[in-house]
Amino acid sequence: MITHPAFSPEPWDIRERGLDLSVLAQSESVFALSNGNIGLRGNLDEGEPHGLPGTYLNSVFEFRPLPYAEAGYGFPESGQSVIDVTNGKLIRLLVEDEPFDVRYGELGAHERVLSLRDGVLRRTADWVSPSGHCMQISSARLVSFTQRATAAIAYEVRPVDAPLHIVLQSELVANEQLPATSADPRAAAALESPLQPEQHIAHDARARLVHCTRASGRRIGAAMDHTVHCPANVRTEIECSPDTARFTLTTRLARGESLRVVKFLAYGWSSMRSIPAISAQVEAALTLARESGWEGLLAEQRQYLDDYWARADVDLDGDPEVQQAVRFALFQVLQASARAERRPIPAKGLTGPGYDGHVFWDTESFVLPTLTYTTPHAAADALRWRHLTLPAARQRARQLTLDGATFAWRTINGEESSGYWPAGTAALHINADVADAVIRLVQATGDEAFERTAALPLLVETARLWASQGFHHVDGSFRIDGVTGPDEYSALANNNVYTNMMAQRNLRGAAEAAERHPDEAAGLGVTGDEIAAWARAADAMFVPYDDKLGVHPQAEQFTDLAVWDFAQTRPDQYPLMLHFPYLQLYRKQVVKQADLVMALFKRGDAFTADEKARDFAYYEPLTVRDSSLSACIQAVLAAEVGHLDLAYDYLGEAARMDLDDLEHNTRDGLHIASLAGAWLTLVAGFGGMRDSGGSLTFAPRLPAPLTRLTFSVLWHGQRLCVNINKTNATYSLEGDASVELAHHGRTFQLTAGEPVTNPIPPAAPGPRPSQPPGREPVRHRPGRA
Ligand code: BGC
Repeated sequence: MITHPAFSPEPWDIRERGLDLSVLAQSESVFALSNGNIGLRGNLDEGEPHGLPGTYLNSVFEFRPLPYAEAGYGFPESGQSVIDVTNGKLIRLLVEDEPFDVRYGELGAHERVLSLRDGVLRRTADWVSPSGHCMQISSARLVSFTQRATAAIAYEVRPVDAPLHIVLQSELVANEQLPATSADPRAAAALESPLQPEQHIAHDARARLVHCTRASGRRIGAAMDHTVHCPANVRTEIECSPDTARFTLTTRLARGESLRVVKFLAYGWSSMRSIPAISAQVEAALTLARESGWEGLLAEQRQYLDDYWARADVDLDGDPEVQQAVRFALFQVLQASARAERRPIPAKGLTGPGYDGHVFWDTESFVLPTLTYTTPHAAADALRWRHLTLPAARQRARQLTLDGATFAWRTINGEESSGYWPAGTAALHINADVADAVIRLVQATGDEAFERTAALPLLVETARLWASQGFHHVDGSFRIDGVTGPDEYSALANNNVYTNMMAQRNLRGAAEAAERHPDEAAGLGVTGDEIAAWARAADAMFVPYDDKLGVHPQAEQFTDLAVWDFAQTRPDQYPLMLHFPYLQLYRKQVVKQADLVMALFKRGDAFTADEKARDFAYYEPLTVRDSSLSACIQAVLAAEVGHLDLAYDYLGEAARMDLDDLEHNTRDGLHIASLAGAWLTLVAGFGGMRDSGGSLTFAPRLPAPLTRLTFSVLWHGQRLCVNINKTNATYSLEGDASVELAHHGRTFQLTAGEPVTNPIPPAAPGPRPSQPPGREPVRHRPGRA
């Protein structure tokens, strides 16, 4: 846990004062910079000490064996792991004959600030070397949103009280040594020396290394160039070997003089391009970056983020920590996706090697709802990536003897990489999650070209999957047996409510899209009979209900199981999956993460208010939140059923997941879905926004500590702004159209330029439900330390 007062609550900055090496790995994730294409962990410029060095390129991975003690039919044969590519962040400093290393000498003031407004990580350090030389060091680092292949570092060093000899070494290092990985299955598999050298070239202030991965055949180019500003004479040298390029600057600085170096970095990769082509690609990117210069890159970055915040910012009064956390969350969601461009958005973004760099349902179910309303082009790109993986998904479906397509539970290249099938292959709901994200995006943007080219095939192939996995029971109902829902502490259950209801939406969405685009649908082989079969299955979808208890079982018979012995479970035995066998977990009522409650949110249109309240109250005491994906969904439902204070506590957890390292694994990378969930908590929770019926509805209500909440969503390219206070909500629309909305169940027309204010009715919740002992959310109050 980051317990030191590391990140003071400032509205637009994440500021760390001092340097606590015991939480270095966490802070490297928090200070990671990315544009969705390149990811640089927030490692210190001088490389050491480090928690976990990391430089990632979206979709650059290596295959690794997936050994099974007892293999079975259809088990994936090889896994995929994101790899640490050539490190271009390194700038080492030698003062007289002493390397700058914060573990030696004396570190005075040390500060790192991530500016959410301009997307730059800045660092300042006052250091006295072991031989007593005082230095001031500063650096600023960015990964460009506007030039997707580019990163840059401005580094400056200044002797404080005496003239000094300075040597700066700016490096590219491939196959850097990584610390051993932990036994936690959520961490990554370390791959030693994954990069095979192919070319190394250096001249003037410029160098380039080209490598190739052994089995996955990714060719990677990394290049650097420099500009130098110094009043004194500077001697420079450049050298390179297969795995290292080094630009060395030597000078003697008078007291107060400074040496400033701007390092431009360019990365490129391909599984098809030749060495000359990759080399040309990175050289071109480098030339462009140099042409822009540091100031130019900075200005472009600021402009890009100004545009982003103008449409995506969430502004609130009453809780500075949540204010900071939600902006941090929105910034990280953007970093994970902005320039991914038809490549996946992994669960950790490009901030660390956790979960081997895999993408899961997290993307479609948590990240894309946020992106759909703030950065729709990035949501479309992520879904186009899914579309590109359709051939692998079709092949996987055939292997599983299913029709249509089955998307991988966890993957980088589209092929299944999950070695644990009860919580992998069996989690078929991921296919309906993809469909749900597709339907939402089309609804929110009205993008017909996207619908015809990507949405329709995705909907059709996933609908085919459900039609073949489910069956009509003798009683006429359509059932889906033997699947795993979102709760991974239950597996292979029949008729998981979440799965069935999402499949129902998928089947209906496919039928409607096919009817809207008959020619394209015919091109996919869709017939009238097939559409009719989808509609029949959707209409007959079985949703189990426990009449005795008056609640929905998460899956058939779930409510008949014995309840987990929470009283005998010690706090240090969470997360349960690290301390108990699945043999025990699967046969008990214990819920890892929102599952039925997730259905209450995503298919809120299919439940009455009374059912929601009863179901929520039933599942709260069973849900242990051993996944970071749970708090935000519980928050949204808590707010809907009127438990605003509980929702507020969950908000604190979802939003500060990484700033406070609540899951104790922020070192491996940020929890991008939980961060996106912070937005969901505010917008869908306290804003009460729902989008299931083809239009937007709101039911805003604020918890006691928040006195104002303002957010915007993009609807068909127009910015709709919602401003909520304790007594009413004001809706306004930019542009020139009008839109029909609902406020607490009453529809109204909103016209651009004519804001509408509606009163907020009071909530009438029942008693606050309890959680398993020791698993209550931390009571969140503004100003808590
Ligand atoms: C959760 C999954 C999630 C994965 C990656 C697991 O702990 O149970 O739902 O997709 O983490 O975030």
